[in-house]
Amino acid sequence: MSEISIYRGNIVFSETEKKLAEYRDSYIVVEDGIVEGIYERVPDRYAGVPVADFGSDVIIPAFSDLHTHAPQYPQRGLKTDALLKEWLDKYTFPLEGRFSDPAFAEAAYDAFVDDLVANGTFHVVTFGTIHEQATGMLIEKLEKKGIYAYVGKVNMDENSPAYLCERTEESLLSTERFLEKYCGSRRAKPILTPRFAPTCSKKLLFGLGKLAKKYDVGTQTHLVESRWEAEEAKRLFPDCGCDTEIYEKAGLFESGLFVGAHFIFPSEEDIRLLSMCGGYAVQCPDATVNVIAGIMPTASLSARGIKIGLGSDVAAGQDVRVYSQVAKSVQLSKIKSFYEPENQVVTFAQAFFMATKQGGSLFGKTGSLAPGYAFDALVIGGLSDPFMPLSPVETVERFCCKGGPNNIRARFLGGKKIG
Ligand code: GUN
Ligand code: FE
Repeated sequence: MSEISIYRGNIVFSETEKKLAEYRDSYIVVEDGIVEGIYERVPDRYAGVPVADFGSDVIIPAFSDLHTHAPQYPQRGLKTDALLKEWLDKYTFPLEGRFSDPAFAEAAYDAFVDDLVANGTFHVVTFGTIHEQATGMLIEKLEKKGIYAYVGKVNMDENSPAYLCERTEESLLSTERFLEKYCGSRRAKPILTPRFAPTCSKKLLFGLGKLAKKYDVGTQTHLVESRWEAEEAKRLFPDCGCDTEIYEKAGLFESGLFVGAHFIFPSEEDIRLLSMCGGYAVQCPDATVNVIAGIMPTASLSARGIKIGLGSDVAAGQDVRVYSQVAKSVQLSKIKSFYEPENQVVTFAQAFFMATKQGGSLFGKTGSLAPGYAFDALVIGGLSDPFMPLSPVETVERFCCKGGPNNIRARFLGGKKIG
């Protein structure tokens, strides 16, 4: 016997990249955790099934965060008086060094996971640190909460402080143990995580390429994220014409998914390679403003067929809220377009698509509320003024711009109420 639930309210989700679907005062039927259909009236075949009524609140898909750093959570909203290299050396590497202490990791990761749930991020791609044990704790905490995740034990064996610099062989062995242990996880799965080209040797990357094949596992990294990083990548890997080619040559495009965070300064060749492997680029608007000082050419990359999701990139970004990145993606596109008019402005509908349907596609059928998608959903409200009621789409727009966890009235993951 299948389990049927019915919810009444307003419903908003991305139909396509540019178009939002809006259903007013409608009924969404969920069968065994999957959306069965949306109706104006409850169909006769469901007569007798109780209806949970959300009134004027709006049911939307839960969010997907395609790039963040769980271990940097203690530093959110702090230490942004430096740009990338100095920020890593001065603040971020010392913080990550503390994850050799399991007690510190335990407390930080509990707080991070709770904040994700509170803010409706039910799908996340996150970095851990180089520490196998602490990163294992992170993956287990996400799995236990039922969050869909790709979690990486970070690899770094060059140009890193001694306390974060692994020996190449040990880095590979530790990664393989991590894969062995967690490849069978149901929801929170491992992903290879070479930090970025400046901190990885060629031997390490080619070793990871072999593990990718052996365990059929994907890769996340930071890609052409700043001018400094893009130049360093070419200087350190002189046989590669661009940053992206480093990962292609190492065999990291051949298995699973590929997630390149930032992708702000791509050359034609970077674009060609990422689009060829079907990889995702991740815009992280707050991080970009705080420590990178560059803006992704979002609309033109999307027009070239690159899949773009949004990321909170804590703690370069100050908050886990992916929905706030929706509003900021729109804002940044206007600045980009002002200074470089060949870049089109991103609409709210496009940015919402990135954080839901597009980002969700990395995890399977989630990120939409069309029939056949998982009912991973949020109910939002409390955003209208009595003197100016909002339409359902306006409610979602205001939520992304200035909403918070208090505006999330209910949370559903795979059809089950959580949080
Ligand atoms: N590049 C290499 N490491 C990092 C990091 O921790 N955060 C960001 N934003 N960029 C990076
Ligand atoms: Fe990052």
